[in-house]
Amino acid sequence: MYHTLDKSLEARLESYMIARMKQAGEPLSIVLYGATGDLVSRKIVPALFHLFQQGRLPSEFHIFGYGRKPWSHLDFQARGRQALEEHAQKDFLAEKDEFLKHLSYIQGEMDDSSGFTALRASIEDWEASFTGHSNRMIYLAVPPELYRTIFVNIKNHQLIQDEHGYWTRVLVEKPIGTNAQTAEELDGFMRSILKEDQLYRIEHYLAKHLIQNLLVFRFSNSLFERVWNRDFIERIDIRLWETVGVETRGALYDGLGALRDVGQNHVLQMLALVAMEHPQQFTAEAIRRERSQVLRSLKWLSGNDVFRLTERRQYQGYSHIPGVKEGSRTETYFRIQTELENDRWRGVPIYLESGKRLKEVRKEIVVTFKQTPPLICADEGAHHQNRIVFSLAPQESIQLQLWIKKPDHGFEIERRSLEMKLREVHGSEVAAYERVLLDCLRGDQTLFLGTDELHAMWRFIDPILEGWAKDPSMVQSYKPDGWAPEIF
Ligand code: BG6
Repeated sequence: MYHTLDKSLEARLESYMIARMKQAGEPLSIVLYGATGDLVSRKIVPALFHLFQQGRLPSEFHIFGYGRKPWSHLDFQARGRQALEEHAQKDFLAEKDEFLKHLSYIQGEMDDSSGFTALRASIEDWEASFTGHSNRMIYLAVPPELYRTIFVNIKNHQLIQDEHGYWTRVLVEKPIGTNAQTAEELDGFMRSILKEDQLYRIEHYLAKHLIQNLLVFRFSNSLFERVWNRDFIERIDIRLWETVGVETRGALYDGLGALRDVGQNHVLQMLALVAMEHPQQFTAEAIRRERSQVLRSLKWLSGNDVFRLTERRQYQGYSHIPGVKEGSRTETYFRIQTELENDRWRGVPIYLESGKRLKEVRKEIVVTFKQTPPLICADEGAHHQNRIVFSLAPQESIQLQLWIKKPDHGFEIERRSLEMKLREVHGSEVAAYERVLLDCLRGDQTLFLGTDELHAMWRFIDPILEGWAKDPSMVQSYKPDGWAPEIF
């Protein structure tokens, strides 16, 4: 089994190398819809710059920013420069002038045919200096309400080209839909225009090192796999605690709430990776299939269980944030207890939790093992479990909590940790976006969501949202920056 994984890893590395060599010779046009927005400055342009610096972009590439604001190429480049100064790694800055020459800007509305015509003309002019073609990577950094319009326009203006051996790939951000039905409609619509291998649904948590490490940790260390089940594991806790608040995203966030913003996607994907079966092969198809199997076996909460097993809260002062509706009942914190209805996990409680403006940052998956008696030297009545903590922030680390004899003349025991510190994490990272863009260039969809996963996640969330909507009084409040839930 493990041999299979190593072999397929080798094969994948080789195909990466081949793909990279090929890319180096093929021109690449990158289209950024929503070019004047925050996501482009904070994440996408710095991530593209890092890839450029590392020699991972083809030698011929161009970035076409598209947006509503009446900017010139120079305005876009100036914003790009500012973005690099604020968000790119400092030791890379020497080559920024060279990089910025690759940026140009086209002004247009998302439903404006003339804007799309101008965009296409710019791309074709640039392509004419080579073979008349390029690979095209199109990034929709815009609110999802605009996806349909953009998809219709990119199709009508033939921006999707998939011939002469060149590809077009489209990246879309979350949220896709606002519930299971709208997600299915929007996803179905996108798939009516693109083939599955052209559609890249971003889940930036999958692109984080620690999350990828879950796969390696579980399936390359035979020590744990045999005890990774309901016989040995007592509970699984997934926490995504943030100290940041809603900040400038009032209107957008108020329409979502914490469960749609991070629960329906990041938190459930963390669960998928910690609970999935061995994929047998290291391929996008096999890994996505196993992730979606886990998500499909989530126990849906309905009726009274929604009240019994979930909790939602809002921090005090939230309703004064610009864009938030007066008297809003949107949750900024949630906690859900559920389980997985499959042979490996049936009966093991799973706690999913996230909140903003909490007292501390704590993004982690905690796997708690059962105490299996008889234990030697255990205190009478005490509960001695072992734990594995996969921490994403404030530090990337994997911690194994064990019981050890105190260094004295008795046999008293104490909890100690073996810790692998992987990296300090400062704020929200650009690295995950580098990985997203690089994998899209390579044509590797492993770290992107498949359509089945998307639907399974919504189907689990839907009944909870419906239950909450029926009883708005369930929202409690908490003190911003001063409260954190109790840890088991
Ligand atoms: C985003 C959410 O998807 O994830 C934000 O919209 C959240 O509200 C963010 O803060 C958390 O991501 P990270 O990478 O900072 O842990």
